[in-house]
Amino acid sequence: MAVKSITRKGAETAQPLGPAKESPLIQQWLARDAEVISPSYTRSYPLVVDHGRGAELWDIEGRRYIDFNAGIAVVSTGHAHPEVVRAIQGQAARFIHMSGTDFYYPMEIELAEKLDQLAPGAERHQTFLSNSGAEAIEAAFKLARHHSGRPRMLAFLGGFHGRSMGALSLTASKPIQREGFAPLVPGVTHAPFAYCYRCPLRLEYPACDIACVRYIEQELFQHSVPPREVAAIVVEPILGEGGYVVPPPEFHIRLQELAGKYGILYVADEVQTGIGRTGKMFASEHWGVEPDILCLAKGIASGMPLGATTARRSVMTWGPGAHGNTFGGNPISCAAALVTLRLVEQQYMANAARLGEVALERLRALQRRVPQMGDVRGLGLMIGVEMVRNPATREPAPALRDQIVQEAFARGLLILGAGASTLRFSPPLAISRTLLDEGLDILEESIMAALTV
Ligand SMILES: Cc1ncc(COP(=O)(O)O)c(C=O)c1O
Repeated sequence: MAVKSITRKGAETAQPLGPAKESPLIQQWLARDAEVISPSYTRSYPLVVDHGRGAELWDIEGRRYIDFNAGIAVVSTGHAHPEVVRAIQGQAARFIHMSGTDFYYPMEIELAEKLDQLAPGAERHQTFLSNSGAEAIEAAFKLARHHSGRPRMLAFLGGFHGRSMGALSLTASKPIQREGFAPLVPGVTHAPFAYCYRCPLRLEYPACDIACVRYIEQELFQHSVPPREVAAIVVEPILGEGGYVVPPPEFHIRLQELAGKYGILYVADEVQTGIGRTGKMFASEHWGVEPDILCLAKGIASGMPLGATTARRSVMTWGPGAHGNTFGGNPISCAAALVTLRLVEQQYMANAARLGEVALERLRALQRRVPQMGDVRGLGLMIGVEMVRNPATREPAPALRDQIVQEAFARGLLILGAGASTLRFSPPLAISRTLLDEGLDILEESIMAALTV
């Protein structure tokens, strides 16, 4: 697909733009970035953004891209949704900051009321507000310990929960994320996740009868983890960073039963899966699971920083001063979140469910022609395609996956990897059928091109 030749101001240029990788202007920005930005950042391609609208972005020279990343599953309503922009502008003109830990303002209370209404379960909920996913997890970690008086945590291999010390202790996605940071918070044990395409226990679903949950009780609880010391099981409904891995339907149901049996709190990390991403407001709802603590961030405020830790009232038992922050529940973020939740609830959640089906069907059709597409899986607009060298051996194909990402970028589609060799789709929930189809056309071309390299 040819890159559209429009300038920053939208006027037609005489010459079509060349590839971003060869642009001297883009190279200049990359060089300046390398001088002053932390080298820990991970960039897959030289996208230097100028502006976005819906599911499209334009770089500083006017190249147009279809965005299947949404700022890593964040801009749920699309880039610069007019109603979100209006809410942000309106709130910024009234007051920008107030410190919700110390003072009151209506939109923070309204947001917590909305989350109370939306969170699964009959019991009323209370919410602690912060600025990011990692902070939402930190709050859950602390609350679980504080409420239960128990020190230990269970999390899962392949799980990603953020990079602050508590959250990082729960994260077990890639060794590079932990390397050099020990000692982490003690008392965290990781169990195998229900990654059926690559079962860590080498079993087959459904004959396995969800052995990965039984492993917790029959192995961990028997040998190394006293269950009465476990405060919480922290789990992503679908592995995000770990490769967009959808577990079988029984997994979370059994896990919550196990947690209940031992008085352990069930903490759903819905930072990536929440807010309509999977076609329901929370992915937990696909299985009828009711988390004791729900962690939210990413898509909740269309890109404004906001984290939320929503717990059953009988769990949120800490008193004044036990936890707090300066910026959490920023009034502009809350205003953006209220509009985002309304738009997602009224339209975009259903759009994600419908277009997710369309995308899955199309990718599965393509998989029949491309055996290197080892596994196609997803719920709503959270879809992963795991690339393999050979479908029989399932040997991961990270180089092929990375090449597809580059081919897509060169053709005007933004997509990223997750896990060892998975392509991940997390477009804005508001994406139109036309743009989805156009993006999938580019992806198909990109896969074919990468296979010939
Ligand atoms: C499931 C999950 N939890 C927590 C986090 C951490 O969120 P943040 O990057 O906002 O700290 C992420 C980020 O990717 C995530 O995907």
